[in-house]
Amino acid sequence: MTLDTAERAALVPLRAFLGFTFCFAGLQKLANPGFFEPSNPGSIQAQLAGSARLSPVHSLVAPLAPIAVPLGLLIAFSELAIGLGTLLGLWQRLAAAGGVVLSLMLFLTVSFHSSPYYTGADIVFAFAWTPLLLAGAGPVLSADAAIAARAKRESRRAGPRVSGGPDPSRREATMKGTLTLLTAIGALALGGLTAGLGRAIGGLTGDSGASRPPRRAAAPKLGPSASGSGGGHPGGHPGGKALGPARDVPVGGAAGFRDPRTGDPSIVIQPAAGKFLAFDAVCPHAGCTVQYDRPAALFICPCHNSRFNAATGAVEAGPAPTGLTPIPVTKGGNGDLYAT
Ligand code: FES
Repeated sequence: MTLDTAERAALVPLRAFLGFTFCFAGLQKLANPGFFEPSNPGSIQAQLAGSARLSPVHSLVAPLAPIAVPLGLLIAFSELAIGLGTLLGLWQRLAAAGGVVLSLMLFLTVSFHSSPYYTGADIVFAFAWTPLLLAGAGPVLSADAAIAARAKRESRRAGPRVSGGPDPSRREATMKGTLTLLTAIGALALGGLTAGLGRAIGGLTGDSGASRPPRRAAAPKLGPSASGSGGGHPGGHPGGKALGPARDVPVGGAAGFRDPRTGDPSIVIQPAAGKFLAFDAVCPHAGCTVQYDRPAALFICPCHNSRFNAATGAVEAGPAPTGLTPIPVTKGGNGDLYAT
C-alpha cells in the first residue's frame, strides 16, 4: 500500500512543534543565568526545593539538591538534543523516548498538581511524543529516512555484495554517525553561544537573567533583632516565634522570612502602616517562591505566572490549584513581629 503525500507528511507538523519547543526550552534555560542562581525564585534550586515538598516522588527529588546545577545543565542539553533530533528526523525514536521520559519527569515534579489534570502541559507532551516513538519520523524531511534510502541506493548500485565488499548497513551507520557527531557539535556550540549571549546581555543591562520575569525589588529579609524598638502590641510579647523587627518591613512593601514552624520561605507585607499580612511564599503549583508585586497588589510566581491576591493569598490566576497559606503575625510590644 502506498501513502499519498498528505499521509507521508502527517507527522511533520507534530515534529516541527515538538522539535522547536524542546529546542526553545533548552536554550531558554541556558540563556537565563537566573535559572542557576540559588537566590532566584525561579531557579532550578528553588524548583527542586519545591518539588521535594510537593511532588509525589519527593523522596527521590530531595537528594538531588546538591547537584542542582549539573542537573539543570543536563535537562537543558537533553531538551536541545531531543529538539534537534526531532527537527532533523535523526534517531527519531530515541529522541521521542527521551521526550516521553523528560515530560513524565516534569509531570511528576512540576505539574502534578495542575487541576484539572489536563491543564498541565507535561502530561500532554508525554502523550504527544508517542506517535513519533511508535512510528519514527516518517518518510518526509527525515534524516533517518534519507540516510536509509541513500544507503539502499548505493548498495543496489554496487550490485551483489562480494566477500569483503562494502557492507550497506555499515555504510548507513557511518553516515548516521557522521551526522550525529556534526549535530552534537552544533548543539554544544549553539548552547554555549546562547549561554554567553544571555550573560553578556544580562551584564550590559545590569539584569542577571535574559528571560526572567519582570523585575521586582528583592524583599529585605527579616532577622532576629538585637533589641526591641518599643510600641506595638499593648500586652508586650504576644507569644509565638519572633520573626524580626517590624520596622524592617517597609510600609507598602514586603520582607522575606523563614516560617519557624515549617522552614518554608515566607513573605510579610505592610499594606498600610501598622497592618501586617504574612503568607507561606511557596507556590502550590510546583514550589517556586512567589514575589510581591506592589503596584498590582499581587503575589506573582516567577515560574508559571500564577497570581495570588495580596490581601488573602487566594489564587487570582492559575495554574496554581490553591492559594497561599496565610501565617498569622502580630507586632509585639518590643517592636518585633511574631508568628502566632
Ligand atoms: Fe508554577 Fe508557581 S510553580 S505557577
